[in-house]
Amino acid sequence: MPTLPRIAILNGPNLNLLGTREPEIYGSDTLDDIRVACEAHGAAIGLEIDLRQSNSEGELIDWIQEARGTRAGLIINPAAYTHSSVAIMDALRMLDAPVVELHLSNIFKREAFRHHSYISPVATGLICGFGAHGYILALDAIARLIGARERG
Ligand code: DQA
Repeated sequence: MPTLPRIAILNGPNLNLLGTREPEIYGSDTLDDIRVACEAHGAAIGLEIDLRQSNSEGELIDWIQEARGTRAGLIINPAAYTHSSVAIMDALRMLDAPVVELHLSNIFKREAFRHHSYISPVATGLICGFGAHGYILALDAIARLIGARERG
């Protein structure tokens, strides 16, 4: 059986607390619920999912570097690092695969400091405001981008 394209789904600080963390903003799904939904949707559309979470900027950067040449696409919810991390931006710049920046909440409807993203300039596209369903939308976007690349 041919191997499926592997997609990295990286999640930044405090997203391990999803489900109990400000559910009025981030919803009631836990990160494990999201993992299960992503794995099921990935299987349905022919993608293998590798979902990880870290509270550490350096670990996220190590995982982005690991994705070079080994992952067909990358979805990242950098959480608060979105608004502060030049280092994550620089790491993403080195990827030659589609990158989707993802936020559960609509960051543009929130405090002004959340309106600026270091990630958007190096992402292929941005999905925000659709809660946990955003991960499914991101997988569909990546599948289409990979398909387009394969067709040339
Ligand atoms: C977030 C939005 C960020 O501003 C915030 O710091 C997060 C989560 C989101 O998914 O909506 O931790 O990335």
